[in-house]
Amino acid sequence: METPIKIEGPNVKYSEKYIESQYPYHTSEVSLENGTYKVKPSTTHFTFRTERKVPKLGVMLVGWGGNNGTTVTAAVLANKLGMTWRTKTGVQSANYLGSLLQSSTVCLGTGPQGDVYVPFGRLLPMVHPNDIVFDGWDISSLDLGAAMERAQVLDWSLQEQLRPHMEKLKPRPSIYFPKFIAANQEERADNVIQGTQQEQLEQVRRDIRDFKQKSGVDKVVVLWTANTERFCDVIAGVHDTAHNLLKAIEIGAEVSPSTLFAVASILEGCAYINGSPQNTFVPGAVELAVQRGVFIAGDDFKSGQTKIKSVLVDFLVGAGLKPTSIVSYNHLGNNDGMNLSAPQQFRSKEISKSNVVDDMVKSNPVLYRPDEKPDHCVVIKYVPYVGDSKRAMDEYISEIMMGGTNTIAMHNTCEDSLLASPLILDLVILTELCQRISFCTESQPEFQGFHSVLSILSYLCKAPLVPEGTPVVNALFRQRACIENTMRACLGLPPQNHMLLEHKMQ
Ligand code: NAI
Repeated sequence: METPIKIEGPNVKYSEKYIESQYPYHTSEVSLENGTYKVKPSTTHFTFRTERKVPKLGVMLVGWGGNNGTTVTAAVLANKLGMTWRTKTGVQSANYLGSLLQSSTVCLGTGPQGDVYVPFGRLLPMVHPNDIVFDGWDISSLDLGAAMERAQVLDWSLQEQLRPHMEKLKPRPSIYFPKFIAANQEERADNVIQGTQQEQLEQVRRDIRDFKQKSGVDKVVVLWTANTERFCDVIAGVHDTAHNLLKAIEIGAEVSPSTLFAVASILEGCAYINGSPQNTFVPGAVELAVQRGVFIAGDDFKSGQTKIKSVLVDFLVGAGLKPTSIVSYNHLGNNDGMNLSAPQQFRSKEISKSNVVDDMVKSNPVLYRPDEKPDHCVVIKYVPYVGDSKRAMDEYISEIMMGGTNTIAMHNTCEDSLLASPLILDLVILTELCQRISFCTESQPEFQGFHSVLSILSYLCKAPLVPEGTPVVNALFRQRACIENTMRACLGLPPQNHMLLEHKMQ
């Protein structure tokens, strides 16, 4: 039985419906006056309100029959049913390792026995992954049992147990425009929606409503984990405003399948998350989300190599060392790798992987001139034999004191889909939580929700989407602290400051 958490303090109030907290948010304003930096601390008083009732959550995956789609669905089923299976090293039981919310902890404070840690996902009332109901679309008609076998991710004896449950799940037909994904995907495409773009959009909208009604879920979040598309040319008059985008769909101008899915979800009032690198969120789609007050988030799951990069470069730059060359090689043999072997789809991934050190470099003008960046090269190759077990090799060269250099090389091997699946769960659960949080300040006394572009999910994304004109944070622990401290604010707790002053006194 899990120990409940209750905050006792002047800054938090529990009612039947809400947890309401008072939160002083401290910032510093900096100006350059007569050659001096003037720093002015200021405080804004926030009231946070978190709805306590956790809804029944439905998740619709675009690309449900792929490696990630089948693996996350299977993992949830296996956890829910408490499955165990034999491997050559012993009995393995289902778990959620790799999930920020289920398997990492936060410190609540100090008790008689020292620091007390609880799972991140227990801080506020949140959906448990076991309770998520899945549905989705795929251009391949294979049922999820057969698709799980095709993915070659899970142990066979686990698949055998899962098969009777998984084979009942069938992806809905999807939108397929061959020019957006690699030509080598064509053979899979036997499950497609026919008709004009407008008709296809309407069908996806009907699918969302149908799922909601048949499953009885309270809310639906839609997440793209389908193939990486090539970038869509953003054309003025077509993709630039919500109005033009809707018109473009109507008249059949070029709009990518992923943008059609995003538009359909937004029109249905469902949050939409992009787990791949393509530019689904053309300006018109962002505007539509803002107009409708619907959350969008992305882009591209930050699961392996980039996650390490956003830790390692932060460490190097934070230590005052100067990374000057970062070279990343990947090879993988799953269907994602096959799709990425086509130049235009690789280009989407390359762009997404390229900007991940920018904020860290920019944060240190001692090391870098304003126009200076480390050399940064990303290579991805398709090697069928390694299957889902992706290999990532990186070399980081940094300048150290007095003309020295430091070279770090690393090699990383693991099943890609087993890293991405827990991120899918974190993404949808955090999105749902954010839908229940609202806040106001003294100067803006009306309660409002987070901006439609849900940048708090940056921790889980390689190329975080943020509201226009706001800073992009890639450094992993800053991203994590943002989530943790926002949740603490909802409980009227101060941000985690790691000062441990109580242990530094005489
Ligand atoms: P996958 O190729 O196994 O699965 C993709 C699925 O999408 C396939 O079943 C395919 O038939 C389907 N599909 C393609 N176009 C579609 C459309 N228009 N509508 C519906 N379904 C469509 O790939 P995997 O490994 O599951 O990865 C999925 C995506 O996630 C890829 O874009 C990948 O780049 C991205 N990603 C994966 C990460 C990982 O660690 N596994 C990390 C970061 C991003």
